[in-house]
Amino acid sequence: MNKTSLKPDTWLFPLPAVMVSCAAENETPNIITISWIGIVCSKPPMLSISVTPERHSYGLIKKAGNFVVNLTGEAQLHAADYCGTKSGRDVNKFDELKLTALKSSIISSPMIAECPVNLECEIRQSLLLGSHEMFVSEIVAMHAGQEYLDQRGRPDLDKIKPLVYCPGAREYRGGMNVLLARYGEAARKKS
Ligand SMILES: Cc1cc2nc3c(=O)[nH]c(=O)nc-3n(C[C@H](O)[C@H](O)[C@H](O)COP(=O)(O)O)c2cc1C
Repeated sequence: MNKTSLKPDTWLFPLPAVMVSCAAENETPNIITISWIGIVCSKPPMLSISVTPERHSYGLIKKAGNFVVNLTGEAQLHAADYCGTKSGRDVNKFDELKLTALKSSIISSPMIAECPVNLECEIRQSLLLGSHEMFVSEIVAMHAGQEYLDQRGRPDLDKIKPLVYCPGAREYRGGMNVLLARYGEAARKKS
């Protein structure tokens, strides 16, 4: 197979486009859209987000030592793009988008009520990599809107309709409604 060499860049896709809410105790909360996110440990459950120091949210997250990862569905497309293109220095994103800040169960940062799943995260380690600082964080609590759960009480992808972002192409994509196989099934089948 012939290959063309391309400039190394952040072409990993699809990535989630999550809305991260952040605030220290009794401070005005902000929301930043984040795609530089990934699960990094199962036990304890941990994820990392990477944030540029220029972001208004960067200082808030450092001060709070925590944040909430609010998962998005296609219904959050407008809000996610807004929170990813406007700064909390200039606008109150909760007010502008008429979003509800719900008190979290453990941390100071509030959850976004309208998002289908909310992961309360406490920062355990941070690493300044270059343009971004990576916050390695433990998921200390998880919540989901009841209307987004399946019969077994788990988040239901068909109800959430996950919103994804493809950097490089700079495109949001949806339509993740086709179940190809379950874990391990495809390996047992020959095409
Ligand atoms: C889809 C999308 C993904 C983004 N991912 C990140 C990210 O992972 N890290 C980051 O620092 N900024 C990211 N941004 C940019 C910030 O969301 C954006 O600069 C935002 O306006 C910062 O808000 P703030 O100044 O209120 O913190 C992303 C933007 C979009 C639209």
